[in-house]
Amino acid sequence: MRILMIIGSLRRNSFNRQLAQIAAKMLEGKAEVSFLGYSDIPYMNQDIEFPAPEAVRRAREEVDAADGIWIFSPEYNFNIPGALKNLLDWLSRPLVKNDPERISALTGKKVTLSGAGGKMAASNARKRLAEFAVFMRMRHMEGEECAVTLTPESFASDTLILSEEDERVLRSQAEKFAAFAGEKE
Ligand SMILES: Cc1cc2nc3c(=O)[nH]c(=O)nc-3n(C[C@H](O)[C@H](O)[C@H](O)COP(=O)(O)O)c2cc1C
Repeated sequence: MRILMIIGSLRRNSFNRQLAQIAAKMLEGKAEVSFLGYSDIPYMNQDIEFPAPEAVRRAREEVDAADGIWIFSPEYNFNIPGALKNLLDWLSRPLVKNDPERISALTGKKVTLSGAGGKMAASNARKRLAEFAVFMRMRHMEGEECAVTLTPESFASDTLILSEEDERVLRSQAEKFAAFAGEKE
């Protein structure tokens, strides 16, 4: 069973990446976890959509190979960060030109959402990601969602510090998502 982590921040020391790394440890023995690299994906431009650029083809293959996708994202100005939105815009597009069914790499894909951010714990980005998941006919695991409000200590040390409650929710989300992603259709 495979889970693909998608991080909404390109920052090397991203708190959301650190959160995903902790979640990956919690998934040990339950799932094979990988992280999607997507910083080389060009801006969405319908002039270059078919055939898809190599970086997009590779991202679609990684999504296709995954039983579930776990997105960890901050919010930028109350919204989905641009690089992540660009990736999702590419992934949202039909695999075949003019497909009336609009089957994309995301159709039917299981997904869960988490985020670390300021006071709102990136809730605006997650709300929009949840709407996107519905629009893309993904299977969004609702309920448990780890939402971390970053502390001044985390910002000062650039190291993610989780409360006991954050850890409990993250572990619970990991367990539930491993079970959800592992369910046979
Ligand atoms: C362009 C930009 C916009 C931001 N807007 C918000 C925001 O609306 N809400 C928020 O809580 N934090 C906001 N932040 C702060 C981020 O939450 C913070 O930089 C966080 O560390 C980013 O996540 P990362 O550590 O995973 O890269 C913003 C940061 C940037 C760079």
